Amino acid sequence: MLTWITGMVAFVVSIVTAFTGYLLQSNFDSQWIAFQAKDALNAVGVGAWFNVADLGQILMWHITLLPLAVAVVVALHVVLVRMHGVVPPLEAAESDAQLRSPAPNPATDSEDKK
Ligand code: HEM
Repeated sequence: MLTWITGMVAFVVSIVTAFTGYLLQSNFDSQWIAFQAKDALNAVGVGAWFNVADLGQILMWHITLLPLAVAVVVALHVVLVRMHGVVPPLEAAESDAQLRSPAPNPATDSEDKK
């Protein structure tokens, strides 16, 4: 369960990192999107903590805090995948009945279970 949560968090944090990188251009496009973000942050009630129109603040988020957060979460995610492995593929089946009661799998079933 933690594996997919860390995966989702890594995805979201990297989107935020890319967004702050885009703000660093400080051209008209990025100024526009900065003030859309300011409205969005105010709308969800966290506008007091982040000032997306402050280039110095955004630069610090972009080059230190967020990449560090991405690195930590991705490392955790990879470790979890290595520990738990990936979800095995579904058995190939010719009918639904076979899916409900799968045929014995010689790779995973021991001799005495058959
Ligand atoms: C997960 C890590 C990172 C992601 C996903 C990311 C993403 C981005 C993106 C999408 C842009 C906008 C590019 C554009 O102007 O079209 C950008 C710009 C920039 N990034 Fe990053 N970045 C990351 C880490 C870093 C780090 C570690 C540094 C510096 C130590 C850095 C420095 C910069 C600078 C200076 C710009 C402005 C470039 C410009 O406007 O010409 N970034 N980044």
